[in-house]
Amino acid sequence: MKENALSRFSLSMPADLVRQLDAMAKARGYANRSRAVADMVRAQLVEHFAQAGAYEIAGTVTLVYDHHRRNIQGLLTDIQHDHAAEIIATLHVHLDHHNCMEVLAVRGRADAVKKVADLLIAAKGVKHGKLTVTTTGRDFSR
Ligand code: NI
Repeated sequence: MKENALSRFSLSMPADLVRQLDAMAKARGYANRSRAVADMVRAQLVEHFAQAGAYEIAGTVTLVYDHHRRNIQGLLTDIQHDHAAEIIATLHVHLDHHNCMEVLAVRGRADAVKKVADLLIAAKGVKHGKLTVTTTGRDFSR
């Protein structure tokens, strides 16, 4: 079968659920129900693959912190230098007089990416941090 050939199959779901699915697909601008369901499946596959430590993922780590807090920038920089293989780009935004937001693009084995994200998010002085996992794109045709 061609990699991106369409495969047709049927599903059974409660009628209410199908109505809600169609309403959501329409509200989000999907051309049809199949495209909406395919995106939901891809989202679940990304989550599923990310559970496997050796699987290569891409993603972003978003951090918010007060740069006046002692040592916070040095600490975050040290962590980033220790994990330079996984951190491929950074964006720093001065949100206001006190608060900074950093967005780090990350890529690598799922376990290594999660480890560096956990270290950054747990660093003393970080007010909020979040890892968002996505695909490297190689495993999905469209
Ligand atoms: Ni700043």
